[in-house]
Amino acid sequence: MFQEKMEKASKTEVSLEDLARNPRCPHGPTVLFKDSVKGKKRKYYSCSAYRDKKTCGFHVDKSSKITPGKRMNWTEQENRFLKHKNHAERYKHFIDFRSSQKQDGFFCQKCEIICDKTGHEDHTITRFSAADLSTPSRILEAKAENKKEAQFFFSESSRDYLLKVVKKTGGTHVLCIGTPTLYEALPGSIKKLFLDIDTRYLGLLSPEQFCWFNMMNFHFFHGDVAKNRLRSFIRSAGSNLTIFLDPPFGGRMELIHHTIQSIQSILEQEMGRGVSKPKLCWIFPYFMERKLKELGLGLEMCEYRVSYINHKEYSGGEGGRNLGSPVRFFTNIPLSSLPLPNADEYKQCTDCGFYVSSTNIHCKECNACTSKDGRPYVHCPDCSRCVKETYVHCADCVRCHLPAFKCKKENEQAEDNADGVTTIKPQAVEKQKSSEQSKKSGKRKYFGSRGRGGNNNKQRGGGGRGGKRRKF
Ligand SMILES: C[S@@+](CC[C@H](N)C(=O)[O-])C[C@H]1O[C@@H](n2cnc3c(N)ncnc32)[C@H](O)[C@@H]1O
Ligand SMILES: [Zn+2]
Ligand SMILES: [Zn+2]
Ligand SMILES: [Zn+2]
Ligand SMILES: [Zn+2]
Ligand SMILES: [Zn+2]
Ligand SMILES: [Zn+2]
Repeated sequence: MFQEKMEKASKTEVSLEDLARNPRCPHGPTVLFKDSVKGKKRKYYSCSAYRDKKTCGFHVDKSSKITPGKRMNWTEQENRFLKHKNHAERYKHFIDFRSSQKQDGFFCQKCEIICDKTGHEDHTITRFSAADLSTPSRILEAKAENKKEAQFFFSESSRDYLLKVVKKTGGTHVLCIGTPTLYEALPGSIKKLFLDIDTRYLGLLSPEQFCWFNMMNFHFFHGDVAKNRLRSFIRSAGSNLTIFLDPPFGGRMELIHHTIQSIQSILEQEMGRGVSKPKLCWIFPYFMERKLKELGLGLEMCEYRVSYINHKEYSGGEGGRNLGSPVRFFTNIPLSSLPLPNADEYKQCTDCGFYVSSTNIHCKECNACTSKDGRPYVHCPDCSRCVKETYVHCADCVRCHLPAFKCKKENEQAEDNADGVTTIKPQAVEKQKSSEQSKKSGKRKYFGSRGRGGNNNKQRGGGGRGGKRRKF
């Protein structure tokens, strides 16, 4: 269901050209989207972070005239939004609490500051002990109900696994984007900086620890002061930088990619072009594998299933999905250096040498352990790849899909499936070429799933691991 939604959303095009010159909503520069509703094409600017009208109703038709009056109006809205969110002012309450030496205090969830109860009687207030201040996310109520920010905290085992990954990298500096609980758990020997859109951390973490940030458009709400904080963090990290990201799964990955590139370019500005790329750990659902790989960041999918404490289906435990959490982590750290924990859940395949889920089965045809979701896949000789066992081969589409899937053989030149393998017919290849040409011509446009990717299942051995068979 969620997978379908993500695929549908990906059919909306996103243009990153001149992002900084786009109209601005309270969450920074908006993004130009292109889609079609009932066959009618639309181009419009909309919020990069929030797609629901209630949180950010910004919507401007591309064809409408952008007058100085409109721009002034947007600036006023932005200023109103920023009011009372000064970092030093909010954090002052934290400093005052610390110097009071009190053993416990209150956090007002409405005013987002540490307070004594006076003046906040009608607000939701959380009592905390002084020791809780080292783990601010425990004081905050996770906004899990709230789809827009979708705050799901790592289970203890997943957090511990990610901490092991940090240790394995040997890196000294970790940049946590949307990963508060990992940030909190990092050992004192690691230098760290936390970036997130959640304003509540302004009252619980200092400006040296936290920057209020939108990862969907590389926007620092507190402007250059905060951006320079990231810059100096990157400078001190040099080639020892590791970035962890756990974005909301509905977030457009092209926008997150743009943020990663912006960080990389700061690193190059500071250290020179020869500097090694930061190590990247991007937490995202397994069915986004092909699209993430297309970004060219050299990411491989680690089969570790990332689970969350406050997400019923992704908890990895009782009441969750039968197959466990569909969330994985994608990284440019060699998978060979990241053995998976717990011998019951994972194994090292004796044929291909990869660490995989214990339910994965090695396919001799594909020369890979081909399952993505934990269920064994079956090999389809017509598609020359392994597919979910619920799929059947369809002569009309010349690919495997669910029997209930409505195939649109007339107008569907290329249709992706969730496993990241695309069957492309000749016309679609033309489309793909033209999209690649427009990429080459410098236009930074991203396209939805149609007509993208190549029929590279053979190279990928259906296992989607880039063809290079690595032995551990
Ligand atoms: C799925 S949660 C990840 C939390 C993580 N699992 C942890 O335990 O630390 C997503 C995080 O991204 C943040 N976030 C959501 N949208 C964002 C945006 N546009 N820019 C920056 N952070 C964002 C949320 O506030 C939240 O902290
Ligand atoms: Zn907005
Ligand atoms: Zn209050
Ligand atoms: Zn194998
Ligand atoms: Zn196979
Ligand atoms: Zn079909
Ligand atoms: Zn098939």
